Amino acid sequence: MNEGSLFAVENLGFAYGETKVLHDISCQLYPGCFYGVVGPNGCGKTTLVDLLCGCKQPATGDIRLRGRALANFGKRELARQLALVPQEFDIGFDFTVEEMVMMGRHPHIGRFQAPTAADWDKAWAAMVSLGIETLADRPLASLSGGQKQRAIVARALAQDTPALFFDEATASLDIHHALRIFNIARRLARQGRMVLAVIHDLNLAAAFCDHLLVMKDGRLFAQGEADTVLTADVIEEVFETQAEVVWDAFSDALRISYRYFDAI
Ligand SMILES: Nc1ncnc2c1ncn2[C@@H]1O[C@H](COP(=O)(O)OP(=O)(O)OP(=O)(O)O)[C@@H](O)[C@H]1O
Ligand SMILES: [Mg+2]
Repeated sequence: MNEGSLFAVENLGFAYGETKVLHDISCQLYPGCFYGVVGPNGCGKTTLVDLLCGCKQPATGDIRLRGRALANFGKRELARQLALVPQEFDIGFDFTVEEMVMMGRHPHIGRFQAPTAADWDKAWAAMVSLGIETLADRPLASLSGGQKQRAIVARALAQDTPALFFDEATASLDIHHALRIFNIARRLARQGRMVLAVIHDLNLAAAFCDHLLVMKDGRLFAQGEADTVLTADVIEEVFETQAEVVWDAFSDALRISYRYFDAI
């Protein structure tokens, strides 16, 4: 394991039945860094995130968290280390927003104990940071898609873990709320958390992430800072789309523009 890394992934492979979908993935994830995972539909991003969060077991290779095999962590113990905003969520019961967000505190609350004032504070701070405190008493089932997604993100923030995983957590959000979440994620990374987000919008990935993992066909195709890995050649090879990459003064970030018409 490299010194100081939170996650160490070595030669990771995974298959659904006979179909191999991840091959030979090795990487280190450090505290204080905001990672972006980009790649085409079906290339294995969600599978990788699920493996890192202990929701699936590797077929081959090894994942270590703080030097210890991920499989050796108990469920509650792991929930104090990492929080996941999944790409798809199925809310079985009719919880309110507040109940949902408080679930993020459960790994920290003893089995026969009630939430403390500090637990409520953390849940409320998470709701306020996402602008959903006025929805606290609403049943989740009554919310819009984007409001529901913000409640799930708030639950992960309330969990207050050293590692945070977002699998397309901003997919159904308007630009204001997407930027709000990306800024929160960036701030958490600056404060020493490890944040890893699967992102389809390459402009947002380039602007916010310190380090990008570019995936293709279940493999790590490239990794590094956005300006070194998100070149027009890489974008064309990975996404089969013609792009131009320039520095943009207004957004103070790379700007990727695409050839829209008659190119695909
Ligand atoms: N439960 C499953 N059973 C069989 N195959 C699966 C299952 N889940 C995913 N796959 C396949 O594994 C591959 C990787 O899927 P994964 O969900 O990791 O992709 P992804 O990169 O997250 O895609 P997207 O951008 O569409 O979310 C795909 O080919 C997919 O069809
Ligand atoms: Mg996915």
